[in-house]
Amino acid sequence: MAIVGRIAVLNTGARIPLIGLGTAAVNQNEKDIKVAVTAALQVGYKHFDTARLYGSEHALGKALNSAFQNRLVSREDVFVTTKLKNTEHDDPVAAIKDSLMNLQQEYVDLFLIHWPIKLRTEIPLTPIKEEDFLPLDIRSTWQGMEQCMEMGLTKAIGVSNFSSKKVEDLMKYAKIPPAVDQVEMHPHWQQKKLRDYCNKHNIHVSAWSPLGSPNTPWGSNRVIDNPLIQEIAQKHGKTRAQVMLRWGLEQGVSVLPKSYNAGRISENFQVFDWSLTPDDHDKISKLEQRKIQQGEQFVNSTTSPYKTVEELWDGEI
Ligand code: A2P
Repeated sequence: MAIVGRIAVLNTGARIPLIGLGTAAVNQNEKDIKVAVTAALQVGYKHFDTARLYGSEHALGKALNSAFQNRLVSREDVFVTTKLKNTEHDDPVAAIKDSLMNLQQEYVDLFLIHWPIKLRTEIPLTPIKEEDFLPLDIRSTWQGMEQCMEMGLTKAIGVSNFSSKKVEDLMKYAKIPPAVDQVEMHPHWQQKKLRDYCNKHNIHVSAWSPLGSPNTPWGSNRVIDNPLIQEIAQKHGKTRAQVMLRWGLEQGVSVLPKSYNAGRISENFQVFDWSLTPDDHDKISKLEQRKIQQGEQFVNSTTSPYKTVEELWDGEI
C-alpha cells in the first residue's frame, strides 16, 4: 500500500496538512461556512484555503475563532492560506493586513500571489475589460510578498497558477524562494512537468479543483464522471471523489476539495487508510489531459501581458 502521511514539510520547515478545505463558492454565506468549518474540524481537517477574491475570509476567520474559543482546536494546529488579489500587486503588505483584519487573525500560514496578472479592477465571474489590464512586474510584487513574511504577517509565501517557467524566473531573483505553487490539478490535468520542477527545487504543490469543480460555473463534471474513475471507485468500494483525492495524495501534493456539505466534507477526508494500485495509477496516467480553467479571461491581443493562453501558461497547456 502506498504510504501517505497527513502532512508535508515546506521549505520553511512548517508542516502543511495534506487535505485542506477549499472555500471558493458562488454564493458565500456565513452560516454555510461556519457549518462547513465546524464539520471539517470535527473530522480532522487542519488546513483551510481562502482568497481575497473568494469573499470567504471573514466568515472563515469567524468560524475558526469560535472553534479556538470552544477549544475544538488551537490556532497553532491549523494552517490558513489566503491569496493576493490581482488588483493588489502594488502593495502586498496592505493587502495582507486587510486579509488579517477580515480573518481576525494575527498571521496566516501561507500567502500566495493568486495569478500572474495585474488588474485595475476585477469583479469575479465577469469579463475583464481591456482597460483593466496593467503592466505586470512580478519581481516587485515578490519583494512585497517577502516583506509580508519578514514582518511576520505570514509564515510562508508562494504563488498560484504559475507555470514551471514562471517559477523558474522567480527563483532567479527571489531572496525567499516560494514555498508552494497552488495550481489546478486532477486526473485530467496532472501537472507532471510542473511537479517534476517543483520536486527538484523543494517547492510544494497544492491542487485546487482536485475534483474538477463539478457543478460550478468555472468547473466541469468531466473528471468526476469519467468512467475509469467510476470503475476504480467501484473496485475499491470508495466514491469517485475519494479516488481523485487519494490519487492526488499519492502524487505527493496537498489537495483542497471545496464542500460546504457535512457528509461530503467527511467523505473527502476518508482517504488515508487505503490506497490505489499500481495498475490504477497506470490507467489514470493515460487519461486524456485537458485543463478545465484555461484562463482565457486573462488573455487579449492588446493590453494583457499574454496574447494567448499558450503565453499565459508558457506552453504548458
Ligand atoms: P458541495 O459544496 O455542494 O459539496 P473542487 O474541490 O474540485 O473545486 O470541487 C468542488 C465542487 O465539488 C463543489 O461543487 C462541491 O459541492 C462538489 N463536491 C465536493 N465534494 C464532493 C464529493 N465528495 N462528491 C461530489 N461532489 C463533491
